[in-house]
Amino acid sequence: MFKHNLLRQLSRASTTAARPPTIQRVSPTTATRAFTTSPFTLDKSSSDPNDNGDYEHYTTSGELGAFEHEGQHSRTDKRIRVEYPEEADLPRQHPVQGRGGFHFKRTLASFSLEDRVGVVTGGARGLGLVMSQALVVSGADVAIVDLNKEEAEHQADILMSTFKKENPGADRIPKVTAHYADVSSPTSVNSALEEILGAHGKIDNLVTSAGFTENFDAIEYPHDRMQKLWGVNVDGTYLFATGVAKHLMSRNAPGSVVMIGSMSGAIVNVPQPQAPYNAAKAAVRHLASSLAVEWAHAGIRVNCISPGYMLTALTKKILDDNPALAQKWTSLIPQGKMGRPEDLMGAVTFLCSDASGYVTGADLRVDGGYTVT
Ligand SMILES: NC(=O)c1ccc[n+]([C@@H]2O[C@H](COP(=O)([O-])OP(=O)(O)OC[C@H]3O[C@@H](n4cnc5c(N)ncnc54)[C@H](O)[C@@H]3O)[C@@H](O)[C@H]2O)c1
Repeated sequence: MFKHNLLRQLSRASTTAARPPTIQRVSPTTATRAFTTSPFTLDKSSSDPNDNGDYEHYTTSGELGAFEHEGQHSRTDKRIRVEYPEEADLPRQHPVQGRGGFHFKRTLASFSLEDRVGVVTGGARGLGLVMSQALVVSGADVAIVDLNKEEAEHQADILMSTFKKENPGADRIPKVTAHYADVSSPTSVNSALEEILGAHGKIDNLVTSAGFTENFDAIEYPHDRMQKLWGVNVDGTYLFATGVAKHLMSRNAPGSVVMIGSMSGAIVNVPQPQAPYNAAKAAVRHLASSLAVEWAHAGIRVNCISPGYMLTALTKKILDDNPALAQKWTSLIPQGKMGRPEDLMGAVTFLCSDASGYVTGADLRVDGGYTVT
């Protein structure tokens, strides 16, 4: 019985193998009907085996501009221009409410930042403010550094009062201080670091969030603005990181630096043109890797967080000026949503804490999947 079945299967297999593959047996009538109704399909009538019909227009042999949709979803639009707004035009950012109290859900003790001092540049607003709050909620004392000292002072008070309100009876209230610095100036950075060490005695963590973006097409980008942009985003990150590393080395203490890059350091955003910003954020990302290697011997870890589109007071203003952008941006994000500043709270706490003890030189993308498509 078994032998009989086997013989039958062998015989079927040999017949199938001898038969031409069915995929080649396309009825000419069906093919003609289906293909002639669409302008985008192959012309099968050609006898030249290298003739790809209309598809040739989609290749580099086709004329530029032959189709309306060429590059439609992956090109920048030079008509979009956004200059970084004046301070007075930016609405105030509010710290996150109602999630910073003691809780009784189990988690790893290594996530705690108790007894640490963290410095957050650009902490008066936006992502920096909420990341400062993440450090405070996790037990750290924090020094907020910003060009806008008044706002930094205001937010430092709010962070402490929010902590008190959400943790009634806490035996210790985190100390949050505010300091002026223009991160692009070495003298300003040095005097801020001195002031912070005077107030807190030490620094364990640094988060560099001071930075900004604006949109001009590359040909028209004003040179002075481009230099300012690189000064704040790149020099500012470098100056604070080296200043803090020097302090950690003199204390012979380990530490963790988290640089806020952007997904723009890995991809080119569309449709808004922003070449200098993209290049600046690529520099920040590679600075993190380079310094991670250079300072590994001293127990100083350096990582980068690359956020995608996050809704802050600043991005809200850009969207208010260009309402069509929100739809365009979210259509390119696999999760389909922009992030909120609070979506960075876990990432920054993880990278500052001992929970990430073996993570250095990494780029943690918090972008809803944007950069993987
Ligand atoms: N918002 C986003 O969608 C997004 C996405 C990716 C990356 N980022 C990056 O995150 C960081 C924070 O962005 P944000 O949206 O919170 O911006 P934001 O404008 O809301 O906050 C930036 C803060 O930095 C301060 N600052 C600016 N220049 C400074 C300087 N020279 N010295 C000291 N402080 C200075 C500002 O006063 C402000 O308080 C930036 O580096 C930005 O490039 C933002």
